[in-house]
Amino acid sequence: MKKVFIARKIDDKGIEMLKKHFEVVENSVDKVLSKEELIKQSRGCDAIVTLLSDEIDADVIEKIDDSVSIIANYAVGFDNIDICAAAKKNIIITNTPEVMTQAVAEHAMTLLLACARRVVEGDNYVRSGKYKIWEPDLLPGPEIAGKTLGIIGVGRIGAVLASIAYHGFGMKVLYHDIQHDEEVERNFQANFVSMNQLLEKSDFISLHVPLCPSTKHMISTGEFKMMKKSAILVNTSRGAVINEKAMIKALRDGEIFAAGLDVFESEGSIDPDLIALKNVVLTPHIASATHEARESMSVCVAENIIEVLSGRPAKTPVEK
Ligand code: GLV
Ligand code: GLV
Repeated sequence: MKKVFIARKIDDKGIEMLKKHFEVVENSVDKVLSKEELIKQSRGCDAIVTLLSDEIDADVIEKIDDSVSIIANYAVGFDNIDICAAAKKNIIITNTPEVMTQAVAEHAMTLLLACARRVVEGDNYVRSGKYKIWEPDLLPGPEIAGKTLGIIGVGRIGAVLASIAYHGFGMKVLYHDIQHDEEVERNFQANFVSMNQLLEKSDFISLHVPLCPSTKHMISTGEFKMMKKSAILVNTSRGAVINEKAMIKALRDGEIFAAGLDVFESEGSIDPDLIALKNVVLTPHIASATHEARESMSVCVAENIIEVLSGRPAKTPVEK
């Protein structure tokens, strides 16, 4: 019987599907495995399920058992995996696109609204006992309707956010991407603009690009200077798309109004200067954490493994 190693517990539904076909070996400790542990515990397996917290670099790929023919990443992003090294060893890599698109787009809008309406500051205000009576000038923020949302990267998630913004809030949508998207332009009256125009004209900006060498630190000192002082920046993609030091300075100096962040340059040890700021809303990389998305992600992972280990093409292989 073929064997599947699961690097960290995922939603039961996918695990149950895998158990119908294969022997399933689960990580023996419920925490992120070191590279050595992952290599050791997955020995003799034909497939590995990884999370975005597992760094599968060239060295890991080199050392994992030759029996492994697929690594199914429980995430849409796959910057944690060296896909070139995997290709050289003929290991198929899959991700979980589409099933989490709605969840992430909803979370991007959640962060935008939380920043605009200062939800976290308000919550802290109440909890710390400061709220005594209605105040006319307490925690004002911008209204959303009719404002301009700039979407950087209008793939699946960016397009759903455009829909929520246009249909739900009557926002104007600008976008920048490596290519035009006529459907988004037609459906949401969105306009393609240059990066500089997007930064200058948007009231709110949301990032939906993958992390790769060309997107690393794409939002840095110069970009913050171009944004409106009233701008709100939302990031649910990858932390390193933003130069965090430059962002902290921009937020501290009032170059922008606020930022809503679900991802960080150094996840797990977030810059204390960022945490000290009041005009940020911080969530612990939970944009895809809906019950629906997690279940569908596990099914997607299981389907990919079932296909590949049965000699058929993967459902959602990642492309270089
Ligand atoms: C989450 O960040 C993912 O890539 O799935
Ligand atoms: C989401 O699934 C995306 O790749 O945009």
